Amino acid sequence: MVTAVFGSLIALRRLSGRRRPSRQPGPKHTPGTALITGASSGIGAAFARLLAARGYHLTLVARREDRLSALAAELHGQYPITAEILVADLSKPADVERVESRIHELESLDLLINNAGFGAPGQFIERDLGIQLDMIHVHVVASVRLSRAALPGMIACRQGGIINVSSIAAFVPMPGNATYSATKAYLNVFSEALQAELTGTGVQIQALCPGFTRTGFHHTPEYEASDRYQIPGLLWMSAREVAAGSLEALAQGQVIYVPGRKNRFLAAMARNAPRSLLPILRRRAVKQRRGTLK
Ligand SMILES: NC(=O)c1ccc[n+]([C@@H]2O[C@H](COP(=O)([O-])OP(=O)(O)OC[C@H]3O[C@@H](n4cnc5c(N)ncnc54)[C@H](OP(=O)(O)O)[C@@H]3O)[C@@H](O)[C@H]2O)c1
Repeated sequence: MVTAVFGSLIALRRLSGRRRPSRQPGPKHTPGTALITGASSGIGAAFARLLAARGYHLTLVARREDRLSALAAELHGQYPITAEILVADLSKPADVERVESRIHELESLDLLINNAGFGAPGQFIERDLGIQLDMIHVHVVASVRLSRAALPGMIACRQGGIINVSSIAAFVPMPGNATYSATKAYLNVFSEALQAELTGTGVQIQALCPGFTRTGFHHTPEYEASDRYQIPGLLWMSAREVAAGSLEALAQGQVIYVPGRKNRFLAAMARNAPRSLLPILRRRAVKQRRGTLK
């Protein structure tokens, strides 16, 4: 137990403090274009607002055209930038292809934020397979394809950044959220390995691992029966805090970034002792299935 806590503290220092000197694309870099998926709401919209204020031109991607249009009009009216919208369902290969084409057309893409995502809590065996496969497509396949489309241009310009929006769920196999935590774990490993491959290219990769964040995420029919209101208020962060912390961490070269001290502590604990947490999580998942979780 002592070893586990000691190990967690070391991991915690790593998660919060592993920093390299400031580099592109930081606030000092002359901004170009940022493409944000899942920009119609929550963390994606918060990224859009922060980047517009820094002078980035934006390509905003999601399914809900009315929300994207409203955000683009708001930002275009407020800042001297262009904000285009691209309506796409990233669970559909043809739509991902359209976003890839747009990336190829853009003169220079400085920042790609693979943020689109959703939750679908419940036992894997009891959930519709289609929704699990959609999740793998939106979280993993689309992020991989768009990264592959963006990287050659970034490497040629010797600058750029990709933020893959993961979750603290990436640090522990979560019964009741098996596909979700697995897709987010993929993004963490992918980001770390990619960053290692890109050393010296001027391109920076980050896996952003938020904890509970006040967005539309928990306000879907998927979460109606969940216990979201039981989660203590002090564990929640705002989408703006999460996005601002991520941009700062990207400029400092942090590859795995967990926003918020409490989340960093939870992530460090989970990272160090995930297997010993499993029985607790399993009991919780069974209670949830039986509807007895308060
Ligand atoms: N909120 C949290 O507590 C939390 C914690 C950890 C990680 N995250 C991660 O943060 C990311 C952003 O979520 P959020 O919290 O900001 O939730 P949100 O407010 O619900 O935003 C999710 C965004 O993803 C887009 N999206 C979902 N499915 C899509 C699809 N098939 N094709 C294209 N876009 C799609 C949504 O747009 P449309 O519906 O318009 O398509 C929306 O813009 C997600 O990857 C999520 O896993 C959230």
